[in-house]
Amino acid sequence: MLLSIPSVLEGESLRTAQRLAASAPWIDGRITAGHQSAQVKDNLQIPEGSPEARELGQIVLAALERNGLFISGVLPLRVYPPLFNRYDPGMTFGAHVDNAIRQVTGTPHRIRTDVSCTLFLAEPEDYDGGELVVEDAYGEHRVKLPAGHMVAYPATSLHRVMPVTRGSRLASFFWVQSMVRDDAQRALLFDLDMAINGVRADLDAEHRGPVQLTAVYHNLLRRWADAS
Ligand code: NI
Repeated sequence: MLLSIPSVLEGESLRTAQRLAASAPWIDGRITAGHQSAQVKDNLQIPEGSPEARELGQIVLAALERNGLFISGVLPLRVYPPLFNRYDPGMTFGAHVDNAIRQVTGTPHRIRTDVSCTLFLAEPEDYDGGELVVEDAYGEHRVKLPAGHMVAYPATSLHRVMPVTRGSRLASFFWVQSMVRDDAQRALLFDLDMAINGVRADLDAEHRGPVQLTAVYHNLLRRWADAS
């Protein structure tokens, strides 16, 4: 499931993130790439663990914690500390799949990457190219969202970033270990959650349907979820 999540950052938090990114140090992005990815990756990143990366990461994590669509669609168990990248003209990232397991730098903690997220931080009119292209069974999906909006997609997908031809594409990217590792199960739970919300809004409070459906939701979650 490819899920577009609008307005993860907006207003002051978005402006603060953009300002921090503008003054941050940038280094070669191959530093976090695996062997295969390093051969197709050409972009810049803010060094992991730098003060700017930490402060930016906190802004993103705080926004995710209060985003109901992210929680419902991704069912996060662990979120990798957000990373930040920039593509200037000529920069690109060819087709690759993200590493299945990532160690959080400087810690003994490992996360399984179930979901990949890209949070766009530059406005689409400020650069040309730079679309995120995600491949799945239905074909290719090109994603280029307004600043502050995010896309979450199965980390199992081959994906790439088209070359930037004007301006700079700025984004945060990170991975999530979901409580539900299987994408199809996550998608079913998300559809059920959305349907329950719709039914609840349409029915008077005395109907038992929404409560019964909510029980089904939680009982499926209980079957499929790992909570630790
Ligand atoms: Ni990737």
